[in-house]
Amino acid sequence: MSGSEVSDAIIEQGAALLRAGRLVAFPTETVYGLGGDATNDRAVAAIFDAKGRPRFNPLIAHVADIDAASRLAVLDDRATRLARAFWPGPLTLVLPRRGDSPVSLLASAGLDTVAVRVPAHPVAQRLLRAAGRPIAAPSANRSGRVSPTTADHVRAELGDRVALVIDGGPCRVGIESTVLDLGGGDRHPALLRPGAVTREALEPLVGPLADAPAAALTDEDAAPRAPGMLASHYAPSLPVRLDATDARPGEAYLAFGPAGAAEALSLSRGGDLVEAAANLFAMLRMLDRPEAFTGIAVAPVPETGLGAAINDRLRRAAAPRPS
Ligand code: TXA
Ligand code: MG
Repeated sequence: MSGSEVSDAIIEQGAALLRAGRLVAFPTETVYGLGGDATNDRAVAAIFDAKGRPRFNPLIAHVADIDAASRLAVLDDRATRLARAFWPGPLTLVLPRRGDSPVSLLASAGLDTVAVRVPAHPVAQRLLRAAGRPIAAPSANRSGRVSPTTADHVRAELGDRVALVIDGGPCRVGIESTVLDLGGGDRHPALLRPGAVTREALEPLVGPLADAPAAALTDEDAAPRAPGMLASHYAPSLPVRLDATDARPGEAYLAFGPAGAAEALSLSRGGDLVEAAANLFAMLRMLDRPEAFTGIAVAPVPETGLGAAINDRLRRAAAPRPS
């Protein structure tokens, strides 16, 4: 389904619900978002509740264009260059909050920064323009679980928690936006979450990127700099085993390249990383059948380009679960 198949009446209904403080799930080019008015503390609180998300983990404010972004946050030269190059698109910038930023402090978890994203999906663009205000939207899954790439995934997981799910068909990119921290003045910008806008695409514009601090990846209690970057995340209910060249008895197999066995799916038969990213979360959900399998074995995926983002999600899916 494309953006033009969602009627103006649905967009208007979604915008009216958002303005009234209700939650609306909507498609972006990366994954489906669980949207609420980013300027309304109660709407933002409802997002945290619906997801079961810890409140120290801040949300991304979505806006339609760079002008709207500059009313929420301070864009320096670097930020402006990146915004011109990649917006609308799957890049989130963590920027200093403006003193008069209308974004709820709860949405940015009390930090002096705010994450801002201008999504490219036509339905998201229409909804943001109709709502006329920034929309806070985490991925529309329960906290720690696999992000949704279809409206059915959202309905299955959060259907009773949202006023409306806008169905824009499957998401084109399939993994969440790249999160780049520009909040730190003269420090190197830091790649907090790899995504479809790759390190290779970013570095020519802003120089070498620092990685997220290791502490952010392991210490859940420290309210780390990238609070969402907890070790276990994007997790199916079955255990996930990485770099597997084939399935052990009882396991389902997620291949990269040709899929041999009957119990196997392939992220991309032709070994294409863009296709693999688009398929990743939907295929993890398809294979996540504890009644049929004991675990999910996943083939090695190259670390180049989009492979870095795919492997980041796979490592979290395979990480030890909080008990
Ligand atoms: O593609 C996406 O980004 C999707 C779609 C719906 O736009 N949204 C999404 O949101 O993935 P969420 O909440 O699932 O992930 C946002 C990430 C989290 O890791 C969060 O910790 C980080 O961005 N983040 C948000 N605000 C931040 C801030 N001020 N400083 C550092 N990290 C921040
Ligand atoms: Mg998420």
